[in-house]
Amino acid sequence: MGSIEQTAELLLCLSPAEVANLKEGINFVRNKSTGKDYILYKSKSLLRACKNMCKHQGGLFIKDIEDLDGRSVRCTKHNWKLDVSTMKYINPPGSFCQDELVVEESKENELLLLELNPPNPWDSEPRSPEDLAFGEVQVDKNLRFMILMDGIHPEMDTCIIVEYKGHKILNTVDCTRPNGGRLPMKVDLMMSDFAGGASGFPMTFSGGKFTEEWKAQFIKTERKKLLNYKARLVKDLQPRIYCPFAGYFVESHPSDKYIKETNIKNDPDELNNLIKKNSDVLTWTPRPGATLDLGRMLKDPTDSKGIIEPPEGTKIYKDSWDFGPYLKILNAAVGDEIFRHSSWIKEYFTWAGFKDYNLVVRMIETDEDFSPFPGGYDYLVDFLDLSFPKERPSREHPFEEIRSRVDVIRHVVKNGLLWDDLYIGFQTRLQRDPDIYHHLFWNHFQIKLPLTPPDWKSFLMYCG
Ligand code: FES
Repeated sequence: MGSIEQTAELLLCLSPAEVANLKEGINFVRNKSTGKDYILYKSKSLLRACKNMCKHQGGLFIKDIEDLDGRSVRCTKHNWKLDVSTMKYINPPGSFCQDELVVEESKENELLLLELNPPNPWDSEPRSPEDLAFGEVQVDKNLRFMILMDGIHPEMDTCIIVEYKGHKILNTVDCTRPNGGRLPMKVDLMMSDFAGGASGFPMTFSGGKFTEEWKAQFIKTERKKLLNYKARLVKDLQPRIYCPFAGYFVESHPSDKYIKETNIKNDPDELNNLIKKNSDVLTWTPRPGATLDLGRMLKDPTDSKGIIEPPEGTKIYKDSWDFGPYLKILNAAVGDEIFRHSSWIKEYFTWAGFKDYNLVVRMIETDEDFSPFPGGYDYLVDFLDLSFPKERPSREHPFEEIRSRVDVIRHVVKNGLLWDDLYIGFQTRLQRDPDIYHHLFWNHFQIKLPLTPPDWKSFLMYCG
């Protein structure tokens, strides 16, 4: 059995003199021997501490110049803000909590920052690696797997460890921060996404700072940060082999030409080169039809039969796609009877169940090019009291405008689908004022909608 004890790791020890130097409010401190940074918040009654590492993608916090109370810090990567007096993120509002460290005083009046580490579940009952034959994997007692939550979107994203005869494969695809960053080291194969650009941000945004130049620059630096983040994760976890494998998507429909041309994604070879520069980890860029014989490669990384490449000239993407079957389903929703009655709007948003939140959204049904759809709906939803006013209310309120292609939004409404279908497929265009990510709103429509679709049958019976 591996250890199942929780362990406490000492991350920082401040001498009594250093403790006396702590000021009220926010203190940035560094452990000089490890080079790691921490944040300490001191008030008359309270001392709180955390790593200076953003929960999102590990960015560094600095003083937030907009913070007048001396409580919040700003992440240098994507501007998330953390209130260190509560350890709650204030941007995105109502979203995440930072993992806190334990603060203790030693007998010698030093201040100790401790991290409590739960036991690693993948270390319990360890199995010694056995030889594998190509293609021998069977679902039996030799195979086990563990699903781990994402630290940022726990309800939505997961990663998985699969183990066969003592060999582990870690797949972290599309997790922002898999298992809060606590992951097994030295697995035999690690697979992850690499491309970025699936969420539509910022290419589907306009207004305010979202000019073409800003978006192009943002994408350039963001994708680079993503590459560096992945490369660092691989370096830290030291898998035997690393494979960037999810992210080969292309916006192929002609109506998505703008996204295709501007939403530049990372190249897996570029990531692998970065990894090779910084570590001894073996990398593999898979191509359609290629094979990696993991057993062979683990035994002898130079084995020429370990990787079989596809025939010369094999394409990564197809030349053409048959969109017909998909569009047929979407189009079927446009003429649905429910949309003859404007009361579908109230019915739908009441069903969705999101309210008591100060946000006003203008929803506009559009054609393929995001111009208003002739005869389509254009309406306001005030989520504070779930009303549908004709004009924006006079109180101060954050505002978003969501333009959605009519076939897609109606398909989503009719079938009670999650709004992932709107933005992951680049089917919306957004403007927001102020420029804030409303985590509570999007999270609700992304994952918290009722499991059964609206009861349109009884709606039609009663709406006359
Ligand atoms: S890493 Fe901090 S906001 Fe993204």
